Amino acid sequence: MTGSLLLYPFPGNAARAAAIAQALQGRAEVRVMSCTVHAFPDGESLVQVAPPPPGSQAVLVCSLNQPDARTVPLLMAAGTLRELGALQVGLVAPYLAYMRQDIRFAPGQAVSARLYARLLSAHVDWLLTVDPHLHRIHDLSEVYNLRSRVLHAAPRLAQWIAAQVPKPLIVGPDGESAQWAADVAARAAAPVVVVQKTRLGDTDVRSTIPDLHLHPGRTPVLIDDIISTGRTLVAALDHLRAAGSPPPVCVAVHGLFAADALDAIRAAGAARIAVTNTVDGVAAPGVDTIALDADLAQGVLDLCAAGCTQTASSEGLPS
Ligand code: R5P
Repeated sequence: MTGSLLLYPFPGNAARAAAIAQALQGRAEVRVMSCTVHAFPDGESLVQVAPPPPGSQAVLVCSLNQPDARTVPLLMAAGTLRELGALQVGLVAPYLAYMRQDIRFAPGQAVSARLYARLLSAHVDWLLTVDPHLHRIHDLSEVYNLRSRVLHAAPRLAQWIAAQVPKPLIVGPDGESAQWAADVAARAAAPVVVVQKTRLGDTDVRSTIPDLHLHPGRTPVLIDDIISTGRTLVAALDHLRAAGSPPPVCVAVHGLFAADALDAIRAAGAARIAVTNTVDGVAAPGVDTIALDADLAQGVLDLCAAGCTQTASSEGLPS
């Protein structure tokens, strides 16, 4: 790899950058650098980065929850690093925003996934993320014009479930979750069922649960990629409770926990909730965290390495 590897954590991402740097000790010359964002009273931001030595690899570390507030400073930081001589500017965004709006659901709507991809692609050389919401877009390279690597949290989720939940029954809360609920189930050596979901509005979700009597004595583990309003899980939890199931465990990759999501999931009967640490700045007391920092570190190393700079790739985390 050419030059030093410099990690620039955005506000809220310092612990993540420190953990990545720690995981890279002895494997790369890595330093955590200062990156500040000052908010002016009029709503503008001033970004300031520690200047990179010429020829270094700059890596912005910024999960993209709260994307509207973060994106403009992020693009300014990327541009500044490039102006100051960074050889490459990469982005570690464990949560990648705007992937769910992947078509025009109503006339005149923005196809946010495509437009946001175009914006980021114009400013950074590579992107490392975890389980972006891929539905009608099947691969990041369909919309992102940069090198990218997608890490899959399924192995870590499965490890957590196998260690924490006796006799689990994996439950996918909607058809979109079927493929990777099955992946987690296979890794955790557990059976799997999938709920049929209809979303009628932001917080209005209706679900139909398959027959649970085929799996007596098992603890349902609801698996989703994103918890936003929590209503997908709440609808599934309501049905599980009505079907007489034991209190389910809820496990997700990205815990956005918008508004009252956490309270609503608990009120609907979740026995326990676990998410990975891809999202920062969300207070989620009592929620178990599944750390992915070591996996992100490996991804950073690979994307910075000269041998991995030509094509986009998609790989799973080590099991
Ligand atoms: C939808 O297709 C996703 O996989 C999640 O189920 C959804 O984004 C969760 O959103 P919410 O928590 O708002 O129901």
